[in-house]
Amino acid sequence: KKKVGFVGWRGMVGSVLLKRMEKENDFNNIIPIFFTTSQLGGLSPLINNISFGKLKNAYDFAILMSLDILVTCQGGDYTNVVYYKLRTMGWKGYWIDAASSLRMNKDALIVLDPVNRLLIDDSISCGIKTFVGSNCTVSLMLMALGGLFKYKLIDWISVTTYQAASGAGASYMKELLMQMNSIVPIFGNILHNQNISILDIEKKITNFLNNSEMLSKNFKVPLINSLIPWIDIKMKNEQTREEWKAESEVNKMLSTNKKILIDGNCVRISTLRCHSLSFTIKLNKDINIREINQILSDHNKWVTIIPNNEISTINHLTPLAVSGTLKIPIGRIRKLSIGKKYLSAFVVGDQLLWGASEPIRRMLQILL
Ligand code: HSE
Repeated sequence: KKKVGFVGWRGMVGSVLLKRMEKENDFNNIIPIFFTTSQLGGLSPLINNISFGKLKNAYDFAILMSLDILVTCQGGDYTNVVYYKLRTMGWKGYWIDAASSLRMNKDALIVLDPVNRLLIDDSISCGIKTFVGSNCTVSLMLMALGGLFKYKLIDWISVTTYQAASGAGASYMKELLMQMNSIVPIFGNILHNQNISILDIEKKITNFLNNSEMLSKNFKVPLINSLIPWIDIKMKNEQTREEWKAESEVNKMLSTNKKILIDGNCVRISTLRCHSLSFTIKLNKDINIREINQILSDHNKWVTIIPNNEISTINHLTPLAVSGTLKIPIGRIRKLSIGKKYLSAFVVGDQLLWGASEPIRRMLQILL
């Protein structure tokens, strides 16, 4: 059995990863070693009620060197400190990472095996030892549109994302909940009163939120009753980094000969853990919707076509319907009035599952 180290298993992505591994009995096939950056002396998590002893120091290079595989959900700061030093010391193990730092390195592959399994297999046989999960919006897009990418049917994509607070981190989710909580007293006791003026309440809430900086330390501005059309830092070309990731990561992970152009706005909304994406796709030929649905649904077992009607859409194509599941529903599929090669689609996916931990879990399985 391979010795597999886990760093950052306590965070959101890490704990979702551990739960999935437990459910799939993945721990039966490995010797897990749990590390900590902050709680030395603490105990490993119980896995299927089995204890794995004391936590090891995540900066103890002697122990790290003894690992066959290291899985980290700790974030970019840890990766930047430990990865290069470990490689310089001659460590030949596999590094599997959820953070973005190594994604664009030429000796790292961005992994999403239902989409680029052949490239993963090729890379392993070529001696690649570093595998990184893609950005959450990228993996959700590729899981949903995988068939169109596979048959090279796409010229370009314009996308608007609706990204949940979980993508920013646990403290942001808490902040969103605090914001929700804070506005309840403003209307809580008066809603049943027939004579209330809804516009008065709206004004009170808007005034309150515009003046309550304490509730927006992380997001910088209130998210509740609003949205934030900005995620991450600004790039030189006026994109945000979140927007930049789509085209860069997709083309690297598919190893495309002809670049597929992808751009659009990334927007934070006040959902907790499901991202949504709205696409305009320029196809390179006119294909009918029935064939498109077939191509999309044949690609993998998680993607589901949601019929383009109200009942199916509002019941199955929402963050609430998807949260906590591996489902990738895609709906609102129709040709735009702009022309026969212009396709519209809407996708929802769990940011912590297919968006982050599941590609990592599956990559580990591939290496065992
Ligand atoms: N960067 C994404 C977000 C998280 O902010 O929603 C992706 O894992």
